[in-house]
Amino acid sequence: MKIAVVGTGYVGLVTGTCLAETGNQVICVDINQNKVKMMQEGKLPIYEPGLELLFHRNINQGRLHFTSNLAEAIAEAQIIFLALPTPPGGDGSADLSYVLGAAKDIAGLITDYKVIVTKSTVPVGTADKITAVLEQHTKVEYAVVSNPEFLREGVAVEDFMKPDRIVIGTLDERARKLMGELYAPYVRQGNPIIYMDQRSSELTKYAANSFLATKISFMNEIANLCELVGADVDMVRRGIGSDERIGRRFLFSGIGYGGSCFPKDVQALAKSAAEAEYDFKVLNAVMEVNDIQRKILVQKVRKYYGGDLKGKKFAIWGLAFKPETDDIREAPALYIIDELLKEGATVAAFDPEAMPNVKGVIGDKITYTKEQYEALEGADALLVLTEWSVFRTPDFDKLESLLKAKVVFDGRNLYDIQKMIDCGFYYNSIGRKVIG
Ligand code: UDX
Repeated sequence: MKIAVVGTGYVGLVTGTCLAETGNQVICVDINQNKVKMMQEGKLPIYEPGLELLFHRNINQGRLHFTSNLAEAIAEAQIIFLALPTPPGGDGSADLSYVLGAAKDIAGLITDYKVIVTKSTVPVGTADKITAVLEQHTKVEYAVVSNPEFLREGVAVEDFMKPDRIVIGTLDERARKLMGELYAPYVRQGNPIIYMDQRSSELTKYAANSFLATKISFMNEIANLCELVGADVDMVRRGIGSDERIGRRFLFSGIGYGGSCFPKDVQALAKSAAEAEYDFKVLNAVMEVNDIQRKILVQKVRKYYGGDLKGKKFAIWGLAFKPETDDIREAPALYIIDELLKEGATVAAFDPEAMPNVKGVIGDKITYTKEQYEALEGADALLVLTEWSVFRTPDFDKLESLLKAKVVFDGRNLYDIQKMIDCGFYYNSIGRKVIG
């Protein structure tokens, strides 16, 4: 099939590359000419495990192309994916100007039946808005489809190639058939393609992310309660996760959810609910809990030092919002660093991938180290903020010799409590016994 992907951000690039992988002819278009040039030269602008291999293979085999010319991109395409940004506007609702702007441009260019698909997360009713724009600017036949992505950063390629499900929102029979054919190779293992109307499909994406965020905020509250009543959240997690109705995944307490999706999507759904004059109480609580949880580690640090952090030096392991990504959007680490600096502390940080991005945002307000142990030199305590594998089994002798004191605050519950007792550390994690 011939496919155009408008927007070569994270979602667009993964979508375009993975669609080429099953033999489709894909052309990706972006207004950023430098980025297009870079991709034409075979350079990948984002870090995502497994993507590079597919990216090069499909370029080399002539199935994946890049252009900054929209007309060229959509001329032959049967299906046009919109993978454009929908940043939160000032009032928390998603800003649709990129998506609707592209719809208008496309309307002026098409000459035969096209399926126009929203891949970005867009509020309920967006497909209708796109339809209205197209209606106004073209007489050519088209279908507008909602086809939300459920890609996790770090495993996006795997999620795309073997999705748990594909959601296709449209009542247009021709579009349903084309989309079904396009996705057939990705659901061979038996997972479903679920067809529905556009609005249900749009809401599905928000409901999925908000439900997952709810799980996290719920577990974070359980963790806080565990600390108060002397229970261990790891045990409670295992105890409830074996119930299939609850499930083992996404029950890890920590320093709150971050990233480009959860905070934005939960907020946007709350906003849509408010617009529909529905008071979505659970969602408001989910956001409130997350705001508090992002700062919980600083509260623990503050309490340990009797409220005075002036002149203290902290080592931080992990800046990305989660492991296997360099993404720092809404990363709890940024909130924590901000609080520590405000209180007069200094910070030396290490992250395997995210340091350049953090430097781009906060510059030299903190020190960045070449490897993880260097950050510990002369620090009063270590704060673990992202669960990268390299932090999971550190050399505790090195920790002891490099840190000024044997103090660890762990926002991701990486270390075994007994191990920390044996090594004689002060160890404060989330929802577990404080050691030392
Ligand atoms: C998420 C969704 O999983 C994906 O389906 C959607 O399309 C985009 O948003 P992503 O943002 O890449 O993907 O990250 P994810 O792995 O889901 O983690 C989100 C946040 O939740 C991270 O900050 C993570 O640290 C946190 N989290 C996750 C927890 O605190 N506890 C958990 O048990 C799981």
